[in-house]
Amino acid sequence: MTTGTTERYDVLIIGSGVAGLTLALRLPPTLAVCVVAKGEVTEGASLYAQGGISAVLDATDSVDAHVADTLEAGAGLSDPAVCRFVAERAAPAIDWLLAAEVPFSREHGGNALHLHREGGHSHRRIVHAADATGRAVETTLEGAARARGNITIRAHHSAVDLVTHRRVGGEPGCHGAYLLNARSGHVHAVAARRVVLATGGASKVYLYTSNPDGATGDGIAMAWRAGCRVGNMEFNQFHPTCLFHPQAKSFLISEALRGEGAVLRLPDGERFMPRFDSRAELAPRDIVARAIDHEMKRLGLDCVYLDISHRPAEWLRAHFPTIHRRCLDFGVDLTREPIPVVPAAHYTCGGVVVDRHGRTDLPGLYAIGECSYTGLHGANRLASNSLLECLVFGISAAEDIAGAHLAEEPAPPALPPWDESRVSDSDEQVVVSHNWDELRRFMWDYVGIVRTDKRLQRAHNRWALLTAEIREYYGHFRITPDLIELRNLAMVAGLIIRSARHRSESRGLHFTRDHPRRGTDTPRPTVLVPD
Ligand code: FAD
Ligand code: SIN
Repeated sequence: MTTGTTERYDVLIIGSGVAGLTLALRLPPTLAVCVVAKGEVTEGASLYAQGGISAVLDATDSVDAHVADTLEAGAGLSDPAVCRFVAERAAPAIDWLLAAEVPFSREHGGNALHLHREGGHSHRRIVHAADATGRAVETTLEGAARARGNITIRAHHSAVDLVTHRRVGGEPGCHGAYLLNARSGHVHAVAARRVVLATGGASKVYLYTSNPDGATGDGIAMAWRAGCRVGNMEFNQFHPTCLFHPQAKSFLISEALRGEGAVLRLPDGERFMPRFDSRAELAPRDIVARAIDHEMKRLGLDCVYLDISHRPAEWLRAHFPTIHRRCLDFGVDLTREPIPVVPAAHYTCGGVVVDRHGRTDLPGLYAIGECSYTGLHGANRLASNSLLECLVFGISAAEDIAGAHLAEEPAPPALPPWDESRVSDSDEQVVVSHNWDELRRFMWDYVGIVRTDKRLQRAHNRWALLTAEIREYYGHFRITPDLIELRNLAMVAGLIIRSARHRSESRGLHFTRDHPRRGTDTPRPTVLVPD
């Protein structure tokens, strides 16, 4: 049986987070644009971003300092030219958001933007909307996109795979994607002159994560299957401070608290970060997360504590209203007591290799936001540089697409319909959830904050078994959103393990006990090329 017919657009954007919506809004209104989300339109990591967006806006700060801090966090693997490209474009990107009326926090009694400070930043340069910056930006952009006549928004549609020249013939290129409508269960083809992956990260590959459910690396897996290179997949960032509570799924305690003086303590009250780094709680995330992991393992602790109770209660409630409320839901009053915290997987530094316009290896295909590897983050991402990257590359990809005069190109080809003739409905959905759990658990245990050669080997063995099982399952049963995610998650796990085994040194977020030092002074990114 076959389903569906081809729908056509100038630009198909897979993902409606800050990256995807920025691109959509920056394209000329003459282009027919389709934005696809696999859940609700605003659901994604962008919605949950707390701390803010880094940008040089203070007279005492400089682009040079922002570049230097980004390079320092990147541990020798960030591309200096890309860091400058991004840092220079930060202030204009914030101006664009201000023009769109994002309600950023202002200095008390004035109009100047209030700036937070976060780990690894030498200055206050984090623009924010209290402690719910992502929500403010994402919902503003969503409202603007819905008001645009040229933008069609499709929620609850999961992209299954890209359609390339391999299916339709002709010169190498990307021509569209197959989308599964989660409500009808049907797959249909959407053709476009340009396709953009803005699908976010893959932190769901780990058992404990700050990320919402959809962070399953779909775009990275789709691009890899379509023949694109991926880079630096071994560098998954673990955020040091997620709320520790049995019922608190994925709740982040923003680094901005540490920027405002919060300290990390052991259960007996000892402040331990100064033992690990002279910057103490404001050291980059990899250092803080490793120190917490070390202390938890050394003392057999379930968590450590983040204490900001020395700041005035009124001030705390005003600056961190969301975090304050959420902690209270779990019986913790941060104005009076320390918050129990643990590290959790937070951000995928690697991704689909792109140039400064977000162009991938495949003509017609772009990747922007967390699913891409631009060279900005290197071996570790500086706090609040991710939303910034979404904005800068969303804008630069839009400029590239706008400059291509799409109307003069031939219409996108008709795409072959999705073929379901050889599959049946699964009678064993449980296989999907079991494999999902197993994968996330061994990734946490063997490919987490501290790695060893043996752990990586173990992870590889389990991954190979699981992958064979998933492949067989995928070949026989009708696809569902869960199966699509499991298949992608397994593929991305494989890319992470392979990249981690390739790097015989400790650098940034990749720490292995068997090679505890940094290697060469001229380090190289890990770039994997599909067969
Ligand atoms: P997302 O916002 O994750 O959006 C992904 C989109 O892709 C969604 O619309 C989803 O539905 C869609 N999608 C995915 N797969 C498919 C598919 N197969 N088919 C169709 N659609 C698909 N960064 C900062 O710079 N500052 C911060 O303060 C900050 N705080 C954070 C706090 C938390 C709790 C988290 C989780 C992250 C935070 N980050 C922060 C990181 C930052 O939020 C993300 O990196 C960024 O928002 C990613 O944006 P994105 O547009 O690339 O993807
Ligand atoms: C945070 O608020 O701590 C998250 C900031 C980020 O991920 O950049």
